[in-house]
Formats: sequence, C-alpha cells, structure tokens
Amino acid sequence: MRLRVNGGNRLCGELNVQGAKNSILPILAACVLVRGEVVLHNCPELSDVASAIKILEHLGLKCERNGDKIRVLCGSINCARVPESLMREMRSSIFFLGPILSSCGRAEISMPGGCELGPRPIDIHIAALRRLGALIEDERGILSCRVEERLKGTQIDLWFPSVGATENTILAAVLAEGTTVITNAAREPEIVDLADFLNACGARIYGAGSSKILIEGVNELRGCEYSIMPDRIAAVTFFSAAAITRGEINLKGVKEEHITSSLSILEAAGCSIKVGGDEIYLKCQNRPRSMNIIKTMPYPSFPTDAQAPIMSLACIADGTTMFVETIFENRYRHVCELMRMGADIKTEGKVAVVNGVKRLNSADVTCTDLRGGAALLIAALSAEGESNIYSIEHIDRGYQHIEKDLRSLSLEVERIE
Ligand code: UD1
Repeated sequence: MRLRVNGGNRLCGELNVQGAKNSILPILAACVLVRGEVVLHNCPELSDVASAIKILEHLGLKCERNGDKIRVLCGSINCARVPESLMREMRSSIFFLGPILSSCGRAEISMPGGCELGPRPIDIHIAALRRLGALIEDERGILSCRVEERLKGTQIDLWFPSVGATENTILAAVLAEGTTVITNAAREPEIVDLADFLNACGARIYGAGSSKILIEGVNELRGCEYSIMPDRIAAVTFFSAAAITRGEINLKGVKEEHITSSLSILEAAGCSIKVGGDEIYLKCQNRPRSMNIIKTMPYPSFPTDAQAPIMSLACIADGTTMFVETIFENRYRHVCELMRMGADIKTEGKVAVVNGVKRLNSADVTCTDLRGGAALLIAALSAEGESNIYSIEHIDRGYQHIEKDLRSLSLEVERIE
C-alpha cells in the first residue's frame, strides 16, 4: 500500500481533529478493570485501536464499534494471558499488564521488546508494579506476574516521568488496597484523560497532570460514557502541513493548552495563529523562518512525537534549525528519506541540524515509523510533482483516513492498494 501525492498545492480548509491515539489505548486497557458498560466517543479509527480491541476480545470482553463510538461490555476477563502475536501488533499492549494483574491476580505477557524508536525498556513499569506487590519473573521473554492477595498502595518514585509507566501504575493502583502516591509522574494530557475516565468509573485519582498523583484504592469500577480528548499530535501534524504548503487551516475540537509549546514554535516560524474556544486557525503566507533550537522534553515542553512533522517544515525554512531529541535514542530515521527529497540535514547522536532549502523535490520514500511517516507525507505535500510514500501502515497506526482528510483540505493524495 502506498500514498500517491501530487505536491505543490496549498492546504486550505477546515477539519475536526481526531480523538487521541495515546489516550484511547490506555483507556481501552482500563476497561479490563470495569464492570458494566463503557461507551467511548470520539474514538479514532486506527490500526492500533483495532489491535487493542482484539486484545480485549481475546480476554473475553465484547466490543462493538459504530462510527466514532466504541461500546465495551465489561465483566470478568476469562484469561490472564496476552499472546505474543497480539503483543507484537502494538507495543502499547504493555498497558494491559497492570489491569490484568489487578483484576486476575496474575498476568502473562511477552516482553514487548525494542521498536523502531530504539530499545524501549519497560523497567520503570516493572519496578512500579513490584512496589505495589507484584511478583514478576521474566522467563525467556515471557513476563509472568502474580500477586499474593491484592496489590497494595504505596509510595512510588519514578526515576523518569515515563508516560506508559505512569499509566500502568495508575491502572494497577486504582483497585489496590490503600493509597498510592506516584512522584515524578508524567504530566501529559493523556494521563489526565485516563484519570478523568477512571474517576468517571468511580476511581479516586487526584493530581493527574501534575508530577504527584495520589490514588485512593476503591473496591470496584462501574461503566460510564466518556469522550476521548483530541489528538494533540495529529493537530500539530496538520498545522505543519498547512505551514509547509503556505496554506491555511481552521482546526476544530482542539485544545490550545495541550499544544502551547508547538504553537510557539510555529509562530516563531512566521505562522499567524488565532485561537477561539476549541478552534485554532493557522495561516502561513511566506516562506517559514528557521526555528532556532527545538529540544524534545516531557510535557509541557515540546513533544518528541511532533519532532518529525516539524522537521519537515524546518527543511524548507529560511535558515538553520537545530533539533535535540532527548526522549528516544533512535528517532531520526526519517532523516535519510527527507534527504532523498533534497533536504539538507546532518545528524550526530541526539542532534540534527537542518539547513533550510528553498524547496524539496518529489521522490519515492518509505516510512520507518509513525511520526516519521507523517513527516514524509508533509514533505511530499510541499514538493512539486508526484511522490509515492510506501509502508504507510506506520501512518495508519496514528492518523485516521489521512488521505481523505488531506483531500478535504484541497490536497491531492490518493491511497493505492
Ligand atoms: C508514550 C507515547 C509515545 C510518546 C512517548 C513520549 C503512548 C501510546 N505512546 O510512549 O507516542 O512518544 O510517550 O512522550 O502513549 N523508558 C525506560 N523504561 C521504561 C519506560 C520508558 O527507559 O520502563 C524510556 C523510553 O525508552 C524512552 C523514555 O523513557 O526513552 C520515554 O518513554 P515513555 O514516556 O515511557 O514513552 P511511552 O509511554 O512508551
């Protein structure tokens, strides 16, 4: 499958931003802890969401999708094991560890292993679950976990504010005995969304969004109706696409406070931005300016997931932009492909130096990961002529019907099976 892009057109129009991938995945995992019916709105149609649903169904829960609504009939799960084939489909399946362990007293999953972004260990998840009383053994790549009676609340200090480990710890602690306090917790908005969902189900989680989260264990969680927050990374991706094509976009259903660091970078590039309620309008009339130094850091700083989409913009900016990637070890794999399109980029370890060129040229390029794939698509939109983007299954993990959305914004993009 590939995307054929006829680049060089201005992006122009209005779009509703999709629900957040990084929010719905832990929320679906949380359904393992709930009894009763959960109805989720604003659910993006993504391959990762389909994988999470497969895991829920494997565990014995009934899921039904209708447009952007997913209904999960939650009850006791009939299995404590996630098979390797399902674990391989999506690294985020690690989110199921905490909930399965909490609800069954045992869990067996295969180690998620490395991924395209680097080694991605899960030691912080494991250490936190052990603090809650889990007994965990790694037997040739299979994690066997059990708990003697019930997980017990305690004080947990994360040595890095890992998003996934914070979520897994919350998921394990909501039904634990007593109170858990997580310090140095990740502060990403998706953590707040997970906590809000769980609290709507009857959990008692305080302080999500700050670096200290307090969880008072409760005995049960009941179903609820909940709407998934907007996808802040998809929002930044569309803004980059608008800016690189010197176009304009009115993005609806987006929260400014989730993307302030990215918006100030887009402003530094010369974009004019107007915010009105949950709509953000962005216009870029001239060649973007360079964006000096962009350093990826935990929220509320600039997100690693927006690094690649913004790098495409830097490729055609007037001047030099330096990127410093501090979150993942191997997050410059899109650079080689951008260079095939004429970008001038040098990398050295965590640093990438992008000297803006006047224009990129069309080319055939291959996605190596989700956000890197989005970056190639953005670059292709700006390059005159036909580009083909291969391995778009990476893009489909995080952007729902991307070609349809881009076409609705006056761009020429076609999916070729
Ligand atoms: C989540 C997001 C991902 C985003 C990332 C950072 C989801 C589904 N994915 O991933 O899109 O890029 O946050 O904002 O929400 N680490 C360890 N040990 C651990 C856990 C993490 O060393 O046990 C390291 C990782 O290798 C990485 C860094 O910590 O270098 C950040 O990882 P983390 O915040 O956990 O990211 P994810 O939750 O995997």
